[in-house]
Amino acid sequence: MTDRKATLSVGDKSIELPMYSGTVGPDVIDVRGLVQEGIFTYDPGFVSTAACESAITYIDGAQGILLHRGYPIDQLAEQSDFLEVCYLLLNGELPSAEENKRFHDTIKNHTMLHDQMRNFFNGFRRDAHPMAIMCGVVGALSAFYHDQMDVTDPKQREVTAHRLIAKMPTIAAWCYKYSVGQPFMYPRNDLSYAENFLHMMFGNPCEEYKPNPVLANAMDKIFILHADHEQNASTSTVRLAGSTGANPYACIASGIAALWGPAHGGANEAVLDMLAEIGDVENIDTFIEKAKDKNDPFRLMGFGHRVYKNFDPRAKVMSETAHQVLSELGLENDPLLKIAQRLEQIALEDEYFVQRQLYPNVDFYSGIILKAIGIPTSMFTVIFAMSRTIGWFSHWNEMVSGNYRIGRPRQLYTGSPKRDYPKN
Ligand code: SDX
Repeated sequence: MTDRKATLSVGDKSIELPMYSGTVGPDVIDVRGLVQEGIFTYDPGFVSTAACESAITYIDGAQGILLHRGYPIDQLAEQSDFLEVCYLLLNGELPSAEENKRFHDTIKNHTMLHDQMRNFFNGFRRDAHPMAIMCGVVGALSAFYHDQMDVTDPKQREVTAHRLIAKMPTIAAWCYKYSVGQPFMYPRNDLSYAENFLHMMFGNPCEEYKPNPVLANAMDKIFILHADHEQNASTSTVRLAGSTGANPYACIASGIAALWGPAHGGANEAVLDMLAEIGDVENIDTFIEKAKDKNDPFRLMGFGHRVYKNFDPRAKVMSETAHQVLSELGLENDPLLKIAQRLEQIALEDEYFVQRQLYPNVDFYSGIILKAIGIPTSMFTVIFAMSRTIGWFSHWNEMVSGNYRIGRPRQLYTGSPKRDYPKN
């Protein structure tokens, strides 16, 4: 951090505020002292507000760049695997070969759930949305692991990280199995992380499930591409929950709840619903006009981003992966892909989207891949949550292992001034 100053003139007052520079990215003005001047900053939606200092992920929205601990997302997607990316996000450096093997083995040995957790699933209706089940079950993990929830103990935080990374695929797959009335599948230690997830999703006790390597590779890429994304809405929720000293399972459950919204992680499910509603490339122009109509709540799901004002680098990798999966499955002529490709082409040429720098985001193509693999749309955000758990935990861990204060924003009050209760 440097020691430059910003000067704020308020009436006849001149207020000096410290400024800091990060490794890369915009400088920040430290406004903490303004409260002594009887002034707040005002930034609904936190468009121009840095809520914390972090060394985990950097996004350059103008250039469409995403770095995890300095490594570009496209290089990680091409050359790494999800568990190695988990290690990187958590520890700050790539593991040595020996560290990587030990980490993979450790995760493999934490994939089972306490058998009594099965009862949690039975409390839900079969048609419950899987995100509702995941939110409840993950929060309930804190009822099973009292022994390792001292947030001040680095070793206990590390064990909790391993448990969450390892158990989220099992919980996610069991959410699906419960919704279709099939028996839960236990994880297998002879499979990779992505293969195991496909096994628990599509396997059954009556025959051995052989994961398709192309589909397993695509799932691993999807996990990598959703792993972390700086201070997005759900990560900020986890940080705010963690700032009260709440246990990590409760904090992760708060992230799952925030991710569920269609403006955030729920967009991948909403993209598929939108493509199905469009139905045919002939109808695209009508929906483009709806998306531009301020009186119409319809938005082009999978388009736009608070930070990216260029292509979301994850969408590019996702688009390539979509082609690999669809050709592997002989679905090159998937009508939804045709609509998506035509929609992308039209939107990128339309003045409304160009002027507002609205490009496809991570959610635009992920749903097409997941649907082709046979995953129901109601499970899309569950898979996003499963992957983002490492990002949420890494940010929570970064915060609680340093100096932090409880998050407590202020407000611009526009309600009634003081008034007395009417005497009878
Ligand atoms: C994720 O933050 C993260 O990093 C999130 C995420 C992650 O990895 O954690 O990247 C994951 O959430 C990706 C985003 C998924 N959501 C969607 O695809 C839903 C559709 N997108 C929009 O809802 C919207 O673009 C947001 C929510 C993503 C961003 O909202 P902003 O930054 O508040 O932008 P805005 O609403 O102020 O829009 C600016 C303008 C507005 O028009 P004007 O008022 O200037 O005339 O662009 C318009 C908006 O109406 N606009 C859209 C649009 N997105 C923005 N118009 C039509 N369709 C859209 N999708």
